[in-house]
Amino acid sequence: MNDLPTDPPSPKPDAATPARPYPNAARPGGAGGNAGRIVVLGNEKGGTGKSTAAMHLIVALLRDGRSVASIDLDGHQGTLTRYVENRRSFTESEGLRLHMPDHRRIGGDDAGRGAADPAALQPDTDALIDRLAATHDYVVLDCPGTDNALARHAISRADILITPINDSFIDLDLLARVGGMPPRVLGPSVYSQTVWEGRQRRAMGGGRPIDWIVLRNRLSPLDSRNKKRVGATLEELAGRIGFRWLDGFHERVIFRQLFLQGLTVLDLREDGAGVPLNMSHVAARQEIRRLTDAVLGRQAGDDAGAHAGTGASEGAAPALAGL
Ligand SMILES: Nc1ncnc2c1ncn2[C@@H]1O[C@H](COP(=O)(O)OP(=O)(O)O)[C@@H](O)[C@H]1O
Ligand SMILES: [Mg+2]
Repeated sequence: MNDLPTDPPSPKPDAATPARPYPNAARPGGAGGNAGRIVVLGNEKGGTGKSTAAMHLIVALLRDGRSVASIDLDGHQGTLTRYVENRRSFTESEGLRLHMPDHRRIGGDDAGRGAADPAALQPDTDALIDRLAATHDYVVLDCPGTDNALARHAISRADILITPINDSFIDLDLLARVGGMPPRVLGPSVYSQTVWEGRQRRAMGGGRPIDWIVLRNRLSPLDSRNKKRVGATLEELAGRIGFRWLDGFHERVIFRQLFLQGLTVLDLREDGAGVPLNMSHVAARQEIRRLTDAVLGRQAGDDAGAHAGTGASEGAAPALAGL
């Protein structure tokens, strides 16, 4: 991590300044006046596409002219950090000029050391988020695929929470317990409760409601029956739990092909990428644009695949009790 910019040590809290009960009270419109939006990629399952979606979203926002900081909260895996490092190395070795986020890693090193106590990292992480949000349009946080104090806290800092799920009922279990055939919703999941608690803490601090986006990932073009069933269940859950959902990324080689160069499908036209653009890549770009539009609050050019739940509305009360 030596070649990435390091953050100056966080200032000690001023005894004369009472600690804010909740940092989101200082979001835009609040007293603190931070401008940047905080986007958190989170769920408590590994391998659903958080880091992949984070990197593609970061590059899309940068290409859209936004300034972007990124924070890797997955000190153990460090996938996003390695993605950014690979991008930096490739950019330098090929003499390219690619957009780079202002990237930081919290806890851990390449051997996975130092990530033992996520709770202890929370105050410094909060201070870092505040500093980066004051100087960037977007701060993108990539969470670990486990439930820990830092990941839970990140939820309550989120203006937008993006939860990628693979398109199966196993992953839907993250949102709610679903059983039977046809599938029935049996009760809330641990993760939905975690988000619900994050929303409560945020509301108590006067923060704006979290816009929760569930992103379907690794969609298969073949399994249309499963796709429909998962879609119908998501539709039902969206209103009851309070999220909106997107038909996100299909299963595509290009989403995992460019990690070593630190590239995304959005970079393919750059000289030196060496991968000719094909139809699947064009479709992948549309999928990324749909996610980016959802984050930017833009009406998607291709509106198919964007599904509003109550999560997008101001003050949406997640109806967990109704599950
Ligand atoms: N849409 C996709 N198509 C193909 N491979 C994908 C897709 N999304 C993610 N992957 C691959 O799935 C694996 C897990 O993705 P990752 O982003 O690391 O998940 P997480 O951060 O949630 O653990 C990686 O090998 C990644 O390249
Ligand atoms: Mg990851």
